[in-house]
This record gives sequence, structure tokens and C-alpha cells, in this order.
Amino acid sequence: MDQIAVDPALLEAARAARRVVVFSGAGMSAESGVPTFRDAQTGLWERFDPAELATPQAWETDPALVWAWYQWRTGLVRHVQPNDGHRALAAWARRVPMTLVTQNVDDLHERAGSEVAAHLHGSLFTPRCSVCSAPHPSDGGLDVEPTGPVAPPACARCGGDVRPGAVWFGEALPEDAWTRAADAVDACDLMVVVGTSAVVYPAAGLPRRAVESGATVIEINPEATDLSPLVHHSWRTTAAVGLPALVAAVGANP
Ligand code: APR
Repeated sequence: MDQIAVDPALLEAARAARRVVVFSGAGMSAESGVPTFRDAQTGLWERFDPAELATPQAWETDPALVWAWYQWRTGLVRHVQPNDGHRALAAWARRVPMTLVTQNVDDLHERAGSEVAAHLHGSLFTPRCSVCSAPHPSDGGLDVEPTGPVAPPACARCGGDVRPGAVWFGEALPEDAWTRAADAVDACDLMVVVGTSAVVYPAAGLPRRAVESGATVIEINPEATDLSPLVHHSWRTTAAVGLPALVAAVGANP
């Protein structure tokens, strides 16, 4: 397939990079078929706002509804595949030191062959007890969309409700993941920000932190974001189109 042209200045920055941080968001997985958070929801979920389902308050009010939503998303992710953007990043990481930081709770980077240094917002595949925090094995979610709430399983250790392994709005980020991400951002000379609206803090502060520390920051997103005016190169393309073109141009083809 013909690849799109890469802006020469952007390409030069990518070629010169010695320590890269990639910061991905939901748009990274959109072309794999995973809806972003700002996409309209369908079916049972139509009348719920993801920003309201992904909260401790929603869990307290209706754990079975929240569990059903996450089980549905887990099953959905299990049935889709990494896209060319995920694969291009895995290939690039074999050529240059790269720290991959994601806000995504899916496992598509890993399935494309990347090592993820930080899942800042947790993972669909690491449920744990809501009472004693004991890890609970993931059953891989649901194969079909649920028609109603699904009761969460009981913790094998204490009998408490098992909760999703995702970080909800208002919760603290996992400290070790945050430290790894922030340290990598402070040390990088290039940050590639892909598929994020960059509005959910503290994660959204990382690209700004990279700009302030003197790194070159490239944004890959089909839409303008709050970040666009702040970065060095804001490239209006998608993850599965832009990343393979960039990675091929730096000579690190999969
Ligand atoms: N390629 C690249 N970017 C894309 C694509 C694509 N194919 N499709 C959509 N986008 C962009 C959108 O333009 C938007 O800017 O991806 C972004 C997705 O934004 P959000 O849905 O807000 O996702 P994200 O930024 O990851 O959300 C951050 O918010 O809901 C919480 O915890 C959740 O991790 C999530 C966080």
C-alpha cells in the first residue's frame, strides 16, 4: 500500500530522536474497532455516558451495571486485532529506545509485540477485589453484548465484589506507572502523542511536561485538540495511517 508523505521537519525530528516516549489514547485503537470515549455508545449503553459509568459513584450505586459494561468492553477488545499503528510502534521500538505510555485499558500494544511501560489508567485484564485488592483472574469478558446488569464475581480471599482493573475518574493513578511515565518524559528528546483528546488529567499533563522540558512533541490525531497549538508538529492523520508512514520513513519497517 502507498504510504502518505511525512512532513520533512517532523521526519527529521523522528530520525534524530535518541529517547522516544509514545503516549497513546483511545484513538490508537479506534481503527481496530474499539470505540473511543467520545464516540456515541450503542445498545444497552446508549443512555449512559462513559464518563459517568467509569466512576466510583457508579460502582457504588450499581456494581452489576458497571461490571457488565467492563465485561462487554473486555470481550470486545479480545475479539479485535492490533492495527498497523500498533505494529509500527513495536517495530520502531526495536530500533530506538522507546518508552510506551498508554491511557488505554486494552492490550493491543502488547499483542502487537510492544512492551508497555505504563498503563496509566489500568487494564481490562486485571480485575481485583474492591475490598481487599486481591487480584482476580480475568475470564476474558463477554462474547455477546449483555442485555442487562451482570453481577460481579466474589473475591476468592474475602468474598468482596471484584471490580474492574481500570482507573476511574477521581481515582489516583497507579503510582509506579506514573513514576515510570514521568521519568521517561523528563528524559526523552521526542514524544509522540497519538489518539488522545488530552483532556483527562494528570495523564494529559505529560505532553505539556515534555514541551516544557525541551523535547520535540509530535501529535498524531485526525482532529485538533487542546494540545495542538502547543506541540511542535500536529499531524492530522490517523494512528494506522500516520505511524506506519513515519516508521517506514525513519527506516524501521516491521
Ligand atoms: N487515530 C488517531 N486518533 C484518533 C483516531 C484515529 N484513528 N480516531 C479518533 N482519534 C482521536 C480523537 O480525535 C480524539 O482526540 O482520539 C482521541 C480520543 O479521545 P478520547 O476518546 O477522549 O480518549 P482519551 O484521550 O484516550 O481519553 C482519556 O479518558 O475516558 C477516560 O480513562 C479514559 O483513558 C481514557 C481517558
